[in-house]
Amino acid sequence: MDLIDKRIVLGMTGGIACYKIAELVRRLTEQGATVDVVMTEAATHFITPVTMQALSGRPVFIDAWDARVPNNMAHIDLTRGADAVLIAPASADFMAKLAHGEASDLLSTLCLARACPMLVAPAMNREMWANPATQRNVAQLRADGIAILGPDSGSQACGEVGDGRMLEAHQLLAEVVAFFQPKLLAGKRVLMTAGPTSEPIDPVRVLSNRSSGKTGYALARAAHEAGAQVTLVSGPTSLPAPYGVSLIPVMTARQMHAAVMAEAGSADLFIAVAAVADWYVKNASAQKIKKTGSGAPQLEFEANPDILADVAGLPDGPWCVGFAAETENLAQHAEDKRRRKNIPVLVGNLAQNVMDADTTEMALFDAQGMHPLPAASKLDAARRLVAEIAARLPKRRA
Ligand code: CTP
Repeated sequence: MDLIDKRIVLGMTGGIACYKIAELVRRLTEQGATVDVVMTEAATHFITPVTMQALSGRPVFIDAWDARVPNNMAHIDLTRGADAVLIAPASADFMAKLAHGEASDLLSTLCLARACPMLVAPAMNREMWANPATQRNVAQLRADGIAILGPDSGSQACGEVGDGRMLEAHQLLAEVVAFFQPKLLAGKRVLMTAGPTSEPIDPVRVLSNRSSGKTGYALARAAHEAGAQVTLVSGPTSLPAPYGVSLIPVMTARQMHAAVMAEAGSADLFIAVAAVADWYVKNASAQKIKKTGSGAPQLEFEANPDILADVAGLPDGPWCVGFAAETENLAQHAEDKRRRKNIPVLVGNLAQNVMDADTTEMALFDAQGMHPLPAASKLDAARRLVAEIAARLPKRRA
């Protein structure tokens, strides 16, 4: 649970995107957050306060003159002790109010009286979003230190297509979770590989391995949460691209090598998590190989490029972190591999414990030796690893 002990005031303003907030409240509370929903009168036309109360398990506030609040200070009481105010959906009208410091209803008064950070998720028609007045207000909110989440682009409830759609509930959740993570890699450009590679034998058969990509995807997410700009070059997996991460899908090791080398020059940090095939089939067939004929096919192999070693060998390349999945003698193999690939840090784990699992137990190897890390979910382990990497990143890059 990523939001334990977090108290979030969720302000809803008028917009059809209110329906997405029912799902968001559920996801926030599932992650351990306490959610106090405050609605404008307009928001109550789109979804009922009863729905929001049932999902948050807490009273919903709308009116500045709510008789349930004995001191009549809901605008103060609600935000004291809150970790963040999230306005979602944020209408163009409400953003105009925020930009001008208006306090004309409970929600806008509460925003003005708050003592905690604020996140705003705009939701409106594309012309309303593009209007110079809205853009002025957005710029003002950013200048005031308010985080603007999205908006997304795509088809809109009004039937038009363009910018202004509110982010989906799972994306808003990812933004909120990321907001609370320490920004240990702020401004850093991180290039990563993940997943298996898939080497064709013929148009329908491949040689691959059992890597699920879970560790690499979790690390990409953790690096993004830590404030990095992340590019993930990934072999085929069944995982969705982590929110906020730029994904370059590839199939073969040679494609992965080409994609990485094209990006490596502008990266501060390279993390090689992919389980790259050591060989590709040199005599792969252009047509499906048939069973008929002279017995089993004779495959000829040729070595794939070593992506990590090539990046580590770049004259002014990124700082490199390698991974090693071993089946025995982890400490010895991992340290040997770190030296052979000439990289400052290598992360090792036992392959039989990690392939396709949701939890992992890793050890970090650097010039000082082996540092075991606690067993954890892949995401928690990834966050810990990001902290360990950030602490070792040389100052000129830090
Ligand atoms: N790696 C890579 N390109 C390759 C092979 C490996 O970038 N062609 C990277 C992996 O992503 C990982 C590290 O190198 O970060 C270790 O990979 P591994 O295949 O275990 O290393 P090898 O040197 O090939 O050792 P082994 O003898 O165990 O195969």
